This record gives sequence, structure tokens and C-alpha cells, in this order.
Amino acid sequence: MALTQSGSTRDGWSSRTAFILAAIGSAVGLGNLVRFPAEAGANGGGAFVMFYILCVILIGLPVLLSETLIGRHGQAAAPESFRKVAEHSGKSTAWEHVASLGVFSAFVVLSFYCVLGGWVLYYIGTFVGDLFSTGVVGGAFSDSTVAEVEALFPAMISDGITTSILDLVFLGITLFFVARGVSGGIEKVALYLMPAFFVLLVGITIYGMFGGAMGQTVDYLFTFEPEKLTGPVMLAAVGQAFFSLSLGVAGMVTYGAYVGRNVNLGVTSGIIASADTMVALLAGLCIFPIVFAAGLSPNGGLGLMFQTLPHAFQEIPGGSLIGLAFFIMVGFAALTSSVALMEVPTAWIIDRFRFTRAVASGMVTVFAGALGVLCALSTGVLAGFHPLAFFPMFEGMGMLDAMDTLTGKITMPIGALLTSIFVGWIANKRLVDSENGLGGALHVFWRFLVCWLCPIALAAILLVGVFPSFI
Ligand code: PFF
Repeated sequence: MALTQSGSTRDGWSSRTAFILAAIGSAVGLGNLVRFPAEAGANGGGAFVMFYILCVILIGLPVLLSETLIGRHGQAAAPESFRKVAEHSGKSTAWEHVASLGVFSAFVVLSFYCVLGGWVLYYIGTFVGDLFSTGVVGGAFSDSTVAEVEALFPAMISDGITTSILDLVFLGITLFFVARGVSGGIEKVALYLMPAFFVLLVGITIYGMFGGAMGQTVDYLFTFEPEKLTGPVMLAAVGQAFFSLSLGVAGMVTYGAYVGRNVNLGVTSGIIASADTMVALLAGLCIFPIVFAAGLSPNGGLGLMFQTLPHAFQEIPGGSLIGLAFFIMVGFAALTSSVALMEVPTAWIIDRFRFTRAVASGMVTVFAGALGVLCALSTGVLAGFHPLAFFPMFEGMGMLDAMDTLTGKITMPIGALLTSIFVGWIANKRLVDSENGLGGALHVFWRFLVCWLCPIALAAILLVGVFPSFI
């Protein structure tokens, strides 16, 4: 095996650019393209967007840097990296369980993320079929009514066989790249798909600039109305920032472990967070002009991506082609994230049990496939199966919603909270300072954020996530 970025014969990124692209690939995903516009729509636009940006800078970025520095110091799977930092700081190695929780979260998120990836595959297929039947000119689905187009989504999610098969296909594609290793597979997918993703995103945004209602979109996304900044809106924004930056699941610890010592983690974390935020904003600038131009309202939830947008593509010229390009772009972004999610438990199994990468990633795939199929069926035949209903916050939730809530509102915030406490208060200060690549006032400010602001803000999210009646 060749000598890699991490300076050892262990597999790792072949260059700093490869790491940056892979980390951006991990961060940019359904969270930016589906969740961000849906949350902005559901939470009143500008106020949410402004607060979201603030959260990325003040809470997300410090935790992102904390995660990557633990990984780079440990040069191992996430729990082992936490253990090494704890050991070198003379503290209890029980801190490794923060990362064990992250491994669990990544596995659960992977399971339901691939179900959504499967939905995207379904829409890619639907747009390809439409392109062949109705041609490039005119809107998409020209021989269907609006009601028929909107009915595609409920029909798809209640067809458990199709969604389960597509879930397994998406998982299989993810396995294909993860099984090939860090430099041979994971970084290749980012190296080719991320540039293609950016071209598509910018292209569709430019289309929206000329063909869509851009002025209305800019007003909607960037007009700050302070009265709209309520408690739930702020919490939605913090949660979104974390999900979008892939934090709290030890994902960035895992990717950080393949980074060489010569890389400045402060600078690269800044690049990753800026790119992720830019993509979320561009996604808003790409989606809403098309929605507004079709005279539709920006409702929230999954309906925005899977019902409102296909309807909007019906109304605009070249809708079949733009729609197809759009869903391919979403598929690319989802794949670079699912690859990151699979790598977290895979790296752990390799480190812990000394299995080969092929066996480890295969095992993750089998278990994530089993849980994923249960999630896929939960919007159809298993809709009445509420696995965590004994706990009030999961009441009425099927497997997919329960897994999303369990990770997004409980295990991911706990992981991020404990990570900031670990880096801010437990780990040896000199060790942390030598890894973070920051100097002067920036360093002092980062320490303040990690020690105080991040733990307090994260504890608040957790409290409100578990006890919604608290606000
Ligand atoms: N950040 C990804 C998104 O916005 O879709 C989701 C994600 C990927 C979360 C990888 C966690 C992770 F480790």
C-alpha cells in the first residue's frame, strides 16, 4: 500500500483536496437539498435562514473542528481516536463511548438515509420515463394532471416492495465505493461526483435566475423579520446546522483520521462549513424560484421535494430535463453522504475486530439493509408498527420517523454535546491546541465557543427535543 496523506501505510486521503472534497461530500446531502428548503419553508424563511447561518458559525464550526482534530490525533476509527486522546490527556478511556454512540447513530441514519436515496432513484426513473414519452420541449408530465403528479409520492411510499428494493439498490451502490477503501473508493466518488454536483446546482440556479421568480425568492429567504424568530424556529435552525454539517455521529472524527499532519484543520473546517452553507443557500435559490414561478406556495416537509417540485417542473419549459438533472444532482449528493455514513461503522469494525474492509462493509450493509427495509415498509404496510411508542415523544411514529427523531433529537445532540465537553474541558489543552491550527484571537474565541456556547446551546436543544412542552 502506498504512503498516504496520514503519513503511514494505513489507507488515507491521497491529498488535502481529496479530504476537503470528501468532507464536503459528507456534509452536502439530502440535508441541504431536501431538509434545508423544507425547514426554511416550514419556519417562515428569512428569520430561520439568518439564525441558521449564525448557528453554523458559532456552534457548528467549533464542533466540526473538534471532531476532525480528535480523528487526526487518533488516526484510527472514532472510538479508538477518542480513547487515544483521553489516554494522552490522562483521563478515563470511557470517553470512547461518546464515539460508540456516534457509530450507532451513523448506522441508524445510514439505514433510513438510503430509503430516501431510494425515493430519489424512483424519481430519477420517473423523469427518465417522462423524457422518453413526452420529449424535452414543454413541461414535465404533460399528459398528466397536477393531482396525478402529486399522487406519485403517496403511491410510491406506500408501495413497500418498490421502496425496499430501491433502498437496497442505493445501499448496494454505497457499499460498492466503501468496500474499495478510502483512497480507492470513498475519495473517488467525491472527486468525480462533487464537481458534477456543483455544475448541476449552479446550472439549475442560473436557470431559476432567468426563468424563475428569483426576486421573490431572495425576498423570501433573506428578509429578516425578527418577530418570526421564535423558540421552535431557533431550535429547528440549530438542529439543521448539525445535521447538515454531519456532526454528532463521529463522521468527521472518522474522516479526520485519514488526514495528514501537514493539513491545517482550522482552515479546512472553515472551507467545509462555508461550502456546505453555500450549497444550502444555493439549494434555496435553486428550488424556490421554480416553485414561485409555477405560482405555488413554499410549503414545508418532504412534500416540497417530492410533490411541489415535480408539479412545478410540469409548469416550466424543459421541465422534464431540468427535473431529471435536479434529481440526479440530489442523488449524487445523497451518495457522497451515505458513503460517509457507512464508513463510520465500517472503520470501527475493521479496527475493533480486525476484519477485512470487504467483510466489515458487507456486515454493515446487511444490518442497515434489514433496518432500512423496516423503515421503507413503515410508510406502507407497517404504518401501524410504532416501535418506540412506549416513550411519549415517539408516539404515533412508524419506524422511519422514529429513527429520524431518535438520532436527530437525541443521540446526535448528545454526541455533539459530549464532544464539545470532551475537547473543551477534558482533553489536554496543549494536545488540542497543537492540532487545531488556530492562532491569536481566533483561538481564544474558538475555546470560548467550545467550552461555553456549544455545550449550553446543545443542552438546550436536547432538553427541548426530549421535552417539547419546555418552550
Ligand atoms: N450531512 C448530511 C446531509 O446534510 O444530508 C447527512 C449526514 C451525512 C449526517 C454523514 C451525518 C454523516 F455522518
